[in-house]
Amino acid sequence: MLLTSVLSFLSIELQIYPYLYTYMSKTKSITLSDILGIEFPVIMAPMFLVSDEKMVVEALKAGITGAIPALNFRKVGDMKNAIRSIKKKSNKPFGINLIVNKSNHRYKEQLRACCEEKVDFIITSLGSPEETILRAHERGIKVFCDVTDIKFALKVEKLGADAIIAVNKEAGGHAGNFSYHQLIPELVALCNIPIISAGGIGSGFGIKEVLNFGACGVSMGSIFIASAEAPVSEEYKNACVQYGAKDIVMTTKISGTPCTVINTPYVKEVGTSQTKFEKFLTKNKRIKKWFKTLLFIKGMKKLERAAFSSTYQNVWCAGPSIEFIKKIRPISEIVRTLKEEFFNCDLKKKPFN
Ligand SMILES: Cc1cc2nc3c(=O)[nH]c(=O)nc-3n(C[C@H](O)[C@H](O)[C@H](O)COP(=O)(O)O)c2cc1C
Repeated sequence: MLLTSVLSFLSIELQIYPYLYTYMSKTKSITLSDILGIEFPVIMAPMFLVSDEKMVVEALKAGITGAIPALNFRKVGDMKNAIRSIKKKSNKPFGINLIVNKSNHRYKEQLRACCEEKVDFIITSLGSPEETILRAHERGIKVFCDVTDIKFALKVEKLGADAIIAVNKEAGGHAGNFSYHQLIPELVALCNIPIISAGGIGSGFGIKEVLNFGACGVSMGSIFIASAEAPVSEEYKNACVQYGAKDIVMTTKISGTPCTVINTPYVKEVGTSQTKFEKFLTKNKRIKKWFKTLLFIKGMKKLERAAFSSTYQNVWCAGPSIEFIKKIRPISEIVRTLKEEFFNCDLKKKPFN
């Protein structure tokens, strides 16, 4: 943490980060484009209920890559079909996101399917990626691991991860605890594998800034929720256009685990923290396992209803980077704008949005 503080001070107070990080990352000049053979170093991040086959195909056509959470498929067979179908439509690399902790009862089956279908990369979240790395590497599949701090980053590096996805506190979904100003320099200085930054990025300027900090690429989720291709309801997409960064709140109401949502009238009505009784049940040794499972199932159903249909119980997951969404647009256009901004911006002049 001392190193983080010193680097943050140097970068923010003295404004020398472009030079400092360029120097620090000079041995790490490999980009996500080099790692995957894609045109632009961006992953369209895996998003529960949102990401699907159509979105990934569009992302690949646009020159970036994309990943789908295995959780978005009702059956593992559906996931296998989607992987085959994407491969028929594009020869560009794409990934699947696996939840690798005990809450995912279909993990082993999903991992086997990813290996059999030889997806290009796997993104692991929530748990130890050890088995995933072992099995995936046997099939030549790359593994990128979500981390929120240096301790876990060093662990996944030791286990053989191909890259780290540094999830910061601006991220949509289960956000981290540190800003990218803190997280990226520390990871770049202490890890020897490439770092992909996730969270808070919605413009080409933002992409350039984190690459300048030493990241090899960026994983972007929220900015793609309001894409024409996303399978979610128009209400959800319009909410991403109309609300902004200041309207994002963290709630434990959905699954018990903190998650970012748009502060809709319904979210305001029910609040963002558990009641005393819910907290008691979450902590009680005998019932906590059952209560958490029940809460998780109920929360997921509520999210699903809100994502796909008209309901007053609007709980829409999104991160502060919805600030950058001005209208619903096709993925091709969103990526084109990102590229234009990236190639035309000057890091010394911070844009207003
Ligand atoms: C609606 C939504 C759903 C998400 N679902 C998942 C998920 O299923 N698995 C996962 O690893 N990350 C998930 N994330 C996190 C994203 O993969 C990514 O880290 C995040 O979107 C980056 O921050 P950004 O939204 O500011 O771009 C989700 C994010 C959002 C906004």
